[in-house]
Amino acid sequence: MSAGAENLERLLDGRQVVICAGSGGVGKTTVSAAIAAGMAARGRTVCVLTIDPARRLADSLRMPELGNEECRVDPERLRRAGLGGNGELWAMTLDAKQTFDDIVEREAPDAQTRDTILANPIYRQLSNAVAGSQEFMAMEKLHELHRSGRYDLLVLDTPPTRNALDFLEAPGRLARFVDSRSLQFFRASGRAGFGLVGRGTGALFSVLKRATGVDLLSDLAEFFNAIGDMSEGFRDRAREVEALLRDEQTTFLLVTSPRTAAIADARFFHRKLEEAGMPFGGLIVNRVREAVGAMAGPELERELSVLLDERLARKVLRDLEDRNSLAARDARNIELMRGEITGDTLIAVPELAGDVHDLGGLAALARQLFEPEPQTGAE
Ligand SMILES: Nc1ncnc2c1ncn2[C@@H]1O[C@H](COP(=O)(O)OP(=O)(O)OP(=O)(O)O)[C@@H](O)[C@H]1O
Ligand SMILES: [Mg+2]
Repeated sequence: MSAGAENLERLLDGRQVVICAGSGGVGKTTVSAAIAAGMAARGRTVCVLTIDPARRLADSLRMPELGNEECRVDPERLRRAGLGGNGELWAMTLDAKQTFDDIVEREAPDAQTRDTILANPIYRQLSNAVAGSQEFMAMEKLHELHRSGRYDLLVLDTPPTRNALDFLEAPGRLARFVDSRSLQFFRASGRAGFGLVGRGTGALFSVLKRATGVDLLSDLAEFFNAIGDMSEGFRDRAREVEALLRDEQTTFLLVTSPRTAAIADARFFHRKLEEAGMPFGGLIVNRVREAVGAMAGPELERELSVLLDERLARKVLRDLEDRNSLAARDARNIELMRGEITGDTLIAVPELAGDVHDLGGLAALARQLFEPEPQTGAE
């Protein structure tokens, strides 16, 4: 296909963090895993952080269901799948709640504060709601792994979102919440006894509910007093994550479908990234339908009618025409996106036959991503 203007390895040269963003279901998780596998095969030590991967993909990477630890994919299995090389592939599934508990472990000034927070019902709700959302956790884990210096490259999958940048704003949102006046108010109320919380509390509760998505009913003072002691740590980290995202070692890849309806999404995400000053790396147009070599026409019709009965021959021809016109539409849309959004930083990946759920599938996808020469032969 005419895709190969850009070379993904060159595009990722010198990068330490790649973030794959885009609308729901376009292939963010699969593409993240394939990029990580491809870069590992090219000698890098890579970790992919996935979010809600399809069970079969998680199984094929042998990622444990729970826990936030990265696991190395067996080099021998990679080699057999055609992904062998000098690098290392590590993978993990983000587990929001566990990561949040880890932060409390780290930030709490002493064991008693830590236990108070972990046991607090508000904390439990909160850590499962906004502050514990996957967006926030993803950023948190990314930051932690980046600081560890263990990897040449971190590939971050993102949750489906309407607004590409929701997850980027999560650390700042939490820091702002911890700093907010409503929180200060509750800390003061806590010190003075809960009796102070009376008139006007309705409004505050609704503010908090809006900020957190959690209905805060009791145990507020205890919780806010404890967490207030950690606000410095949250603020610092929000700043560090923000800096990491804008760093020139970071790049965002937007994943999109080639369908007409997706063009507006891709344009929107691209603009959002630009407005936020985030480094855009390229557009990955995934699941592009390719034309079938044969063109429908009188000659093919004659050949088919010798092999098949008339009705079947007509059906085959119609299918062929449909497929080719979908492929032509995808190709037009790709040119539109190239022209309007990204210029040459666009990589088109064909629709593979069947789901991508094992190392063989990732290897096939990685080949399309890293060596997008025209493919010959049967699918
Ligand atoms: N190029 C491809 N060819 C064929 N199938 C693909 C391709 N890319 C992705 N898929 C399949 O599409 C499905 C959706 O992919 P994936 O889960 O990666 O999307 P996602 O963007 O992460 O979805 P969500 O927004 O729900 O997280 C999966 O079943 C995957 O195997
Ligand atoms: Mg996904």
